[in-house]
Amino acid sequence: MSVRPILLYPDPALKAKTARVDPASPEVAAIVQDMLDTLKASPGVALAAPQIGHLMQLIVVDVSRKKGEQGHGLVVLLNPHILQQDGPRVIREGCLSVPDYTGNVLRYERILVQGLSPDGLPVTLAASGFEALAFQHELDHLDGMLFLDRIASLSTDLFRRKR
Ligand code: NI
Repeated sequence: MSVRPILLYPDPALKAKTARVDPASPEVAAIVQDMLDTLKASPGVALAAPQIGHLMQLIVVDVSRKKGEQGHGLVVLLNPHILQQDGPRVIREGCLSVPDYTGNVLRYERILVQGLSPDGLPVTLAASGFEALAFQHELDHLDGMLFLDRIASLSTDLFRRKR
C-alpha cells in the first residue's frame, strides 16, 4: 500500500478505455488500497483507477472529506455504472488530474449507481447533489473522459483556478 502519483492531463492513461475487474483478484485489492492511500493524501473527494495509471473499472468516493458534505461516506465501487439519472443542471467542477482549471459541465442532480463492493457483493446507491456529481465525474474517468471533454465552450465555460 502506498500513495501513488496522480497522473495529469494530457497523460494518455486518462483518455484510455478501462477493463472490468475481478473482485477476487489480489492485484485489484492492492490497487484499491493504493487508491485509498492516494485519495487520503490528496485534497480531493474521489479518485478513479486510471488517475494512478491502472486501466481498470475502480473508483473511490468519499464526499465527507469536504466540509458540510456527508453522502455515504467512503464508497469503493468495482465495475460501476449508472442505472438512472435525473435533474439535469450545469455545475462547476474540478479534477485532481486537471489541477489548474475548473469547468461548467452538464450533470444530473440525482443518480442511482450500481457496482460491486470490494468483497464482490452487488451494491446500489442513490446519490444526490455533490455526491451524485462526484460519481458521475469518476465514472467518466472509466470511459476515458475528463470534464474538459464535456464543457460546451472553452471561452466561457473553462476557468483558471486562482492561486
Ligand atoms: Ni477527476
